[in-house]
Amino acid sequence: MNIRKILVTSALPYANGSIHLGHLVEYIQTDIWVRFQKMCLPKEDGHEIYFVCADDTHGTPIMLRAEKEGITPEALIERVHNEHLRDFTGFHIEFDNYYTTHSPETRQYSEDIYTKLKTKDPSLITTHSVEQFYDPVKNIFLPDRFIKGECPKCSAKDQYGDNCEICGAAYAPTDLRNPYSAVSSAALVRKTSEHFFFKLSDNRCVSFLRKWTLEENHLQTEAANKMREWLGEEEENKLFDWDISRDAPYFGFEIPDAPGKYFYVWLDAPIGYMGSFKNLCNQHNINFNEFWNKNSATELYHFIGKDILYFHALFWPAMLENSGYRTPTQIFSHGFLTINGEKMSKSRGTFITAENYLKQGLNPEWLRYYYAAKLNGTMEDVDLSFDDFITRVNSDLVGKYVNIASRAAGFLVKYFHSQIADISGQTCKSFLQEPEPIRDGKTRLVHELLENAAIIRTHMENRRYNLAISEIMALTGKVNEYWDQQKPWDKAKQIDEIQLELALHLVSSITIECFRILTIFLKPILPMLAQKAESFLNVEPMQWEDLWKTLPQGHKIKSYEHLMVRVDRKKIDAMIKASK
Ligand code: 2FM
Ligand code: ZN
Repeated sequence: MNIRKILVTSALPYANGSIHLGHLVEYIQTDIWVRFQKMCLPKEDGHEIYFVCADDTHGTPIMLRAEKEGITPEALIERVHNEHLRDFTGFHIEFDNYYTTHSPETRQYSEDIYTKLKTKDPSLITTHSVEQFYDPVKNIFLPDRFIKGECPKCSAKDQYGDNCEICGAAYAPTDLRNPYSAVSSAALVRKTSEHFFFKLSDNRCVSFLRKWTLEENHLQTEAANKMREWLGEEEENKLFDWDISRDAPYFGFEIPDAPGKYFYVWLDAPIGYMGSFKNLCNQHNINFNEFWNKNSATELYHFIGKDILYFHALFWPAMLENSGYRTPTQIFSHGFLTINGEKMSKSRGTFITAENYLKQGLNPEWLRYYYAAKLNGTMEDVDLSFDDFITRVNSDLVGKYVNIASRAAGFLVKYFHSQIADISGQTCKSFLQEPEPIRDGKTRLVHELLENAAIIRTHMENRRYNLAISEIMALTGKVNEYWDQQKPWDKAKQIDEIQLELALHLVSSITIECFRILTIFLKPILPMLAQKAESFLNVEPMQWEDLWKTLPQGHKIKSYEHLMVRVDRKKIDAMIKASK
């Protein structure tokens, strides 16, 4: 057997904001994939799958936010860490480790990678002076987003440093007239300081990246196309050296042998993947080097949003490659979330936090299901339309899937002591007049469900959850049709006739067996619902392999209790109202 060892990450959320429905597209997408892998590749067989993440804790915005709240950055990031973990747990995102970049492990690997790049011969770190806007009241260099001024084109006041909200012009912060600090309102001055750069334009990076992004299969097609644009034609070098330092005061890691200079937050952020994993390794005796050494045979996957592709597909592999570590196996990027076809907006009440969604009593698995039904493994945006959300959840999950269990369980409990009949082999054939012969000892319908397992597995593996769900729901429809054709309620009226009694028992048992199979298919997407279903079926937690088992004759199920309620439109309206 091919033993697989897989490390999976989701992007690290900043430690100064709440998790919202946009973030959740990614965490849900990753969590489904990891749960699916864990179901297919059980630990007992020697496979190892780990899912790590962390808060992205460094940088000026976090430092300023803490100051504004009158607390230390450490206190801020600790509070936010707890909030993030609470929200992720609320949506059943099951990390093996949720850590922080403000950690000894991340510091260690940041220093290590930096030092290795620096001591390369010739060095891949260089310095030169940079002129930037400086806030003379706060005594800090300001990132672009804290710079305001007059639009150079239409003279509108109070515009941000990248584009004008009035005339739409795009420009650099240095183009603004009368620039001032959005933090202190002080007029900004220009000041020069020495910065450290990672030499991305060096041929050792450029030729490696060309090969890594364009010749090897690490990126989706659309992402590789973006790379082609960023890298330019062969012989043309469009990459710039990357400024990796910031001046004190800065909340981050000080650069070794460079007092007053700090690593820019984006340097240590991806290294936070290593830091979080190292922290997990320390707790569970996992071999870190086996996962991160050059030529590692393990797999490394990063799930990210398309906005941070540049960092993950250029800087990150170039840093790893040139400091002697392995590079990612694949980068999976996804698009943005739109709500009812538009950008999330506070005024429309569609800037919805994870906390607010849960507070209104909306079931997190509704969102997991809905996102899965839309995710197709590409970088296309995902639209959450609330009308569609209500229809899909109510008709697919409640109307079709859950309905199967509630219909069949009643008869088994009422007439057959909750026991499953012998649904293999000849019994079905003679009593149900099955139109086709029973194959592999399984009745036709069960067989049909299992025949589709391979394609569903392939879709899940390729992150085409939308296609997996179409298949699963088509099968769910067939099980309901089967029930309707067999008309067990008619059979129940004639329960005293032995033949019919057997037929009723068989139909109900086959239907429950189909429900069991459908539950395995849906389990990575709906882990809690699956857990309830397992308890109703009275079986141990199921793995993918369990598809090929059958509930044995005489197996007792529990009586049916509601597995899921319908989405109530009023709750959605309340959530939107609360988000305004
Ligand atoms: O864009 C963001 O939200 C970043 N905090 C993501 C960091 S991902 C990784 F590189 F750490
Ligand atoms: Zn303007």
